[in-house]
Amino acid sequence: MDYRHRPVMVEEVMSYLAPAPGDVIVDCTLGGAGHSRVIAGGIGPEGVLIGIDRDRRALEAAAVALADAPCRVCLVHGDYGDIEDLLRQLGHGAPDGVLFDLGVSSHQLDAAERGFTYREDTPLDMRMDQESQLTAAHIVNTASVRDLERVIFDYGEERWARRIARRIVQERQKAPILTTGRLVQVILEAAPDGATRRDGPHPARRTFQALRIAVNDELGSVRRGTEGAVRAAACGARIVTISYHSLEDRIVKELFRARERPCSCPPSLPACVCGRRKALEVITRKPVRPSEDEVRVNPRARSAKLRAAIKVLGPGEDE
Ligand SMILES: C[S@@+](CC[C@H](N)C(=O)[O-])C[C@H]1O[C@@H](n2cnc3c(N)ncnc32)[C@H](O)[C@@H]1O
Repeated sequence: MDYRHRPVMVEEVMSYLAPAPGDVIVDCTLGGAGHSRVIAGGIGPEGVLIGIDRDRRALEAAAVALADAPCRVCLVHGDYGDIEDLLRQLGHGAPDGVLFDLGVSSHQLDAAERGFTYREDTPLDMRMDQESQLTAAHIVNTASVRDLERVIFDYGEERWARRIARRIVQERQKAPILTTGRLVQVILEAAPDGATRRDGPHPARRTFQALRIAVNDELGSVRRGTEGAVRAAACGARIVTISYHSLEDRIVKELFRARERPCSCPPSLPACVCGRRKALEVITRKPVRPSEDEVRVNPRARSAKLRAAIKVLGPGEDE
């Protein structure tokens, strides 16, 4: 299957990331290199593009897409949550820009055998990194009813989480739930009549999102990755994130705010005495949204929110 993924908000990414000739730029979510190909043109022959992905198929597709890139390219298989260790091992120095285009790619969703989609009947997998151990089938067949409810409610914001969790546990006692098709069936049986409106989102959408987030510890990686990027980046570096749901966007928003205004002194004090230093200047007061034209040609862009900040301390100075 060809690697298909249309990059989101490319012009906005280039404007906020502002890659300059000779820069070291880290694309933490390389995917099919849609953003990276454009960034490569901005940093030129003296520049270094470091591309990270936990999906080996994405790295293979990106290697082809970047074969004629006009800069030095370094592709790494790993979790961007470990960005500081990965950068240390590569030894290219502090990055001048870091991009996170969070979540799954269209390719991962469309490749039915990866088990991310509720639209096909395939093994219940959902691993972005196929070398990792934890699959969606493992969670669905071993987690307690309370843990399932918590995952489905917290990560899927699914109001019927309790009913779905209970039904999963009942059904798996008859036979393990090993396919996306059977899980969809269980969810449909658990959802009350009326929750399965023909014009609304698919009733399995939220539970599938929740399991995907849990299998890949997506929120943990976003937290560690963005914090690591802020610590590792050079003074003046730009950090740009695109998120697709409120849980990941909230993590970025709160981290940016905490690093822009770290002072913990009571407002009654005339001057700061806590000594915490501002590490970031946020340059998107509100999240930047895609244009209507973009959403028309790429519906996946609809929920995208871009945030950007400039590092105002040197690497590690804020620790
Ligand atoms: C939305 S896609 C990125 C698409 C890319 N910007 C492009 O234009 O082609 C997200 C990519 O990030 C990868 N990814 C998600 N979480 C990751 C993590 N914690 N560490 C490394 N890669 C991750 C996924 O495997 C996927 O390929």
